[in-house]
Amino acid sequence: MAILVTGGLGYIGSHTVVELLNNGFEVVIIDDLSNSEKFILKNIEEITKKKPVFYPFDLKRKELLTQVFDAHKIDGCINFAASKAVGESQLKPIDYYENNLFSLINILQEFKERRLSSFIFSSSCTVYGQADTMPIDENTPLRMPESVYGKTKQMGEEILIDFAKAYHRKISLLRYFNPIGAHPSGKIGELPIGVPNNLVPYVMQTAAGIREKLSIWGNDYDTEDGTAVRDYIYVVDLAKAHVAALQRLMNDPSDETLIDIYNLGTGKGSSVLEVIKAFELANNVTVPYQICERREGDITIAYANPYKAEKELNWKSETSLEEALRTVWQWQKYLESRKV
Ligand code: UFG
Repeated sequence: MAILVTGGLGYIGSHTVVELLNNGFEVVIIDDLSNSEKFILKNIEEITKKKPVFYPFDLKRKELLTQVFDAHKIDGCINFAASKAVGESQLKPIDYYENNLFSLINILQEFKERRLSSFIFSSSCTVYGQADTMPIDENTPLRMPESVYGKTKQMGEEILIDFAKAYHRKISLLRYFNPIGAHPSGKIGELPIGVPNNLVPYVMQTAAGIREKLSIWGNDYDTEDGTAVRDYIYVVDLAKAHVAALQRLMNDPSDETLIDIYNLGTGKGSSVLEVIKAFELANNVTVPYQICERREGDITIAYANPYKAEKELNWKSETSLEEALRTVWQWQKYLESRKV
């Protein structure tokens, strides 16, 4: 069984490749290295003692993509490849639409022509916007996201639903909450390029002295301690959900359309201050911070109801916030050791 993993050297992609290889799948990675690095491939091989096939090119190059489908018997696809910086997406909307949607459509053309099924799309809880009630389940109404990045996720979902319905294919839309952490081996993790936007990479770099202090974007939210609340899910748990979702699609014996949608989170919300405290406790470090104005476009609170994924995928987030944050620090130490 060969699975095409686009963006397979990226953050969630690399962890998922490890889980796929550990579960006996062959993996073909396409990654243009625009937001990832080649050493991740070597480290995946070290962790798994297996060798995924790797092609470095941009998925918009349809002729190269066709060659990959000609060269391998692809049985399914997990599509991670996408630009993902929320702020940048507002400044470069056309680039984001082109990059995130053309690449998806190019793969779906191959799937359509070759009568392939089993497609997993990495979506985001951003499709719910600020939901009226918590926790967020899959029936929570969608709101058009504020950012172009979020819109590409929502449009990607729509494209896939139409694809599945028209051609009777099986797809899974996985809506991630906030992925954090690194592999327990300390050899793969999140590689923020430049100044991190996301909370945990920023906390990591502040603890390491790379950043002077963390800015907390607002402490006047309507939450217990005034800081915004999110559902932080450990990336290895998240990666395992992909394997479970893929197996469900592949094991479905019917020829009917199957459209699976799952919220992937822990079910527990944590505030920014709680994350900082947990990081300090887990790693015995200090994280200096200052309180700043709210960040534009941020919502107050979002956490998942992961019940549907638990029931249908027989999957559960297992790792605590502290454990996940411990792997973040281990990853930082590894990155430092690479520099000397
Ligand atoms: N935060 C800070 N300081 C920072 C960084 C973040 O206080 O330096 C706060 C944010 O204001 C927010 C929380 O930490 O309240 C989490 O922020 P992240 O940027 O880590 O995550 P978001 O929930 O904002 O972003 C996530 C995904 C995006 C997705 C977005 C949609 O990472 O891919 O949800 O809301 F688009």
